[in-house]
Amino acid sequence: MNFAGAKPTTTKPARLDTADLTIVGGGGHVGIPLVLAFAEAGYRVNVHDTNREVLETLRAGRLPFIEYGGEALLAKALERDRLVFTSAPADISRGGPVVITIGTPIDEFLNPVRKVVQDCIDALLPHLADGQLLVLRSTVFPGTTDWLDGHLKRNNRELKLAFCPERMVQGHGIKELKETPQIISATTPAAEEEAAKLFSAIAPELVVVTPREAELAKLFNNAYRYIEFATANQFYLIAKAAGVDYRRVSDAMKRNYPRARGIPSPGLAAGPCLMKDTAQLAAFAQNQFSLGNAAMLVNEGLVLHLCDDLRRRYDLSRMTVGLLGMAFKAEIDDTRASLSYKFKKALASLAGAVLTTDPFVTTDPELQPLDDVIARSDLLVLCAPHAAYRDLDFSGKPVVDVWGFLKNANVIS
Ligand SMILES: NC(=O)c1ccc[n+]([C@@H]2O[C@H](COP(=O)([O-])OP(=O)(O)OC[C@H]3O[C@@H](n4cnc5c(N)ncnc54)[C@H](O)[C@@H]3O)[C@@H](O)[C@H]2O)c1
Repeated sequence: MNFAGAKPTTTKPARLDTADLTIVGGGGHVGIPLVLAFAEAGYRVNVHDTNREVLETLRAGRLPFIEYGGEALLAKALERDRLVFTSAPADISRGGPVVITIGTPIDEFLNPVRKVVQDCIDALLPHLADGQLLVLRSTVFPGTTDWLDGHLKRNNRELKLAFCPERMVQGHGIKELKETPQIISATTPAAEEEAAKLFSAIAPELVVVTPREAELAKLFNNAYRYIEFATANQFYLIAKAAGVDYRRVSDAMKRNYPRARGIPSPGLAAGPCLMKDTAQLAAFAQNQFSLGNAAMLVNEGLVLHLCDDLRRRYDLSRMTVGLLGMAFKAEIDDTRASLSYKFKKALASLAGAVLTTDPFVTTDPELQPLDDVIARSDLLVLCAPHAAYRDLDFSGKPVVDVWGFLKNANVIS
């Protein structure tokens, strides 16, 4: 599907009543790249977020977290007066599409929390006009789009409803939005057409399916990635138990062998999406998603396994252990659902002291400078493979590197 010329190109100043579309959750990890992509495509965007601090940061021309390529686009969007910042539901634009990108967490029983979506929509509903396009972009439990359709009808509202999931890799959304086909789904042909027109302005290709197909496609994408990581982690643990160096096995499996090229390296598989979405799928499948449940056990269990292994090999109570990298993955500053913190917690009751460091994270007052952590630790653990660690000299101190990432380390597992 291709809708050339979907971009608006007027020169009106960016006021609320002139915004072309609203991104709800526009100050979040998914929201910001989307806001900037639409602004770059010529849209005037209402950046709507309940977090006023984040909006102030954006208004001042700064990003609240790492989004590669985002700062230049933000500067351009502000200079061209393409952004409006709002946080009260009454400030939602009554014309133009409204795209929902709020967080959709799971609860302590690993079940989805539909109430978050319902509360958000119910607060906005009095301020939305019938006929307006409402796009769900957050990752949702299958059936949420149909439920929302019924919810709107029960409230005698006639909005156009679409579900168009985000599939970017965190931190690289600006680049990925340009390269990733956009899944489009909607509850009516008119909504589907309008959603397709909207996303054709920023996506290279559209894939049109039904809402249930789109909801499953998004969850299957994330669960599959999570299972891939679990496969690599389980292979690593099997090799380790057999006293075999997994780096050598991995090289033998993958070198010039195309069918194995996609096997990821083992490592801490964490973050706010992959496990959460695998858990949502497991809940949807009435806990009969055996591969997904197994992946959660393997990925979440890796940290505890490594701790147990260290406890057997060392008298940890006499040692200081340094953790390198507290973000949930390499080259970003996000600590949400980072397994580095699970490691820290598990070690806290075993080791004499635990020191932590990260060159990107700015939200953790307990972090220490890298050099101090290396100097003061007896044992180090690579938790997030930031490029800055690759060539470090650890003065011969033992280092746990599940990733097989470090060049000059005395790697012990
Ligand atoms: N982070 C990723 O890389 C990624 C990738 C694909 C999909 N997703 C999905 O996208 C969704 C958002 O994830 P995220 O990482 O951007 O979350 P986030 O917490 O970074 O961003 C959500 C934003 O929504 C705001 N918000 C919450 N409730 C609101 C409300 N009622 N009105 C206005 N603003 C509100 C928050 O203040 C926050 O700024 C989730 O469903 C997630 O699973 C995330």
